[in-house]
Amino acid sequence: MRDNKVEEVEKRLEEDKTNISTLNQLNDLKIKYLGKKGLISSLNQLIKDIPNEEKKEFGQSVNQVRENFNQFYEQKKRYFEDEQLNKQLERETIDITLPATKVRRGSKHPVNRMIEKIEDLFVSMGYDVMTGPELETDEFCFERLNLPKGHPARDMQDSFYITEEYLLRTQTSAVQARTLLANKNDPKPIREIVPGKTYRKEDDATHSHQFCQCEGLVIDKKENHVSLADLKGTLEVFVKEVIGDNLDLRFRPSYFPFTEPSYEVDVSCFKCGGKGCPLCKDTGWIEILGAGIVHPNVLRMNGYDPEKWGGFAFGPGLERLTMFRYGIPDMRYLYTNDIRFLEEFDRGDESDAIK
Ligand code: DAH
Repeated sequence: MRDNKVEEVEKRLEEDKTNISTLNQLNDLKIKYLGKKGLISSLNQLIKDIPNEEKKEFGQSVNQVRENFNQFYEQKKRYFEDEQLNKQLERETIDITLPATKVRRGSKHPVNRMIEKIEDLFVSMGYDVMTGPELETDEFCFERLNLPKGHPARDMQDSFYITEEYLLRTQTSAVQARTLLANKNDPKPIREIVPGKTYRKEDDATHSHQFCQCEGLVIDKKENHVSLADLKGTLEVFVKEVIGDNLDLRFRPSYFPFTEPSYEVDVSCFKCGGKGCPLCKDTGWIEILGAGIVHPNVLRMNGYDPEKWGGFAFGPGLERLTMFRYGIPDMRYLYTNDIRFLEEFDRGDESDAIK
């Protein structure tokens, strides 16, 4: 009868074993059989009622059931753990041969590309790249460039005055005066370009209130004869490099207060080759910059003796040059932040230039 009890537990165990399919169920089974009040543990309770001579045998059969259970338990447990690990490994597999996700890069704005191009060129010719404040004083923007208050040529540039003294600079030429004056106590040769933003109070549809220029200034001792020919040669290299080969230059006499003589410089229309087209308004020429020989007054006012020093200056607007270089038909494209347009310039090389 007591053996029957053991057999009964054994039988239930065999049956229960077939229903185990998870680690949780297995642990529940352990409690059911080996817990304090578990089926196998309870068998031990019976031992006190068993006659002494049978105690040993009974004990052995209970031990065997326990042993049997433990074996089953360990084996099953390992099985479930392996299964879990395999599933996890499968889930976390990394295919290192897959192509990496592409990170979307921004692109350089075409005007900035143009500025870099110009900087590279002039640095290779020994120029310094300088900057100056965009919020400028009337003194540097005008007075020290031979444009005293009340001078009629001030009307050439409609200015954004912030106070009576300060304005948003209308021209990068302001930095000419800054550089000259900084050398006042020890005048020395200057070769600089100044790319940067400029501002004018324009209110018609075809002009922007903010645009970019790149001033150029070359000053040397009189005996080194920095001449108009040097200016022309420099601008020829400049145009060739930033717009394209085989373009002619034309100097038209003009007026700027800070140069004498002064010129407006045109390039032959790269679109029609000079025959005349809508871009050049049928003239065959396109104006790109102002330039000239630095006015003696500018040198004198900023600490350079015009008897001993001389040189040239030039100042192109950069938006038009950028349009010519990249074949951009409308200046507004440059400032409307249309991502489709900007992505056109997501190229690592300069192959998009119209050269
Ligand atoms: N600053 C002039 C402008 O904004 C352009 C210019 C003309 C610059 C002659 C120069 C120069 O350096 O020599 O219209």
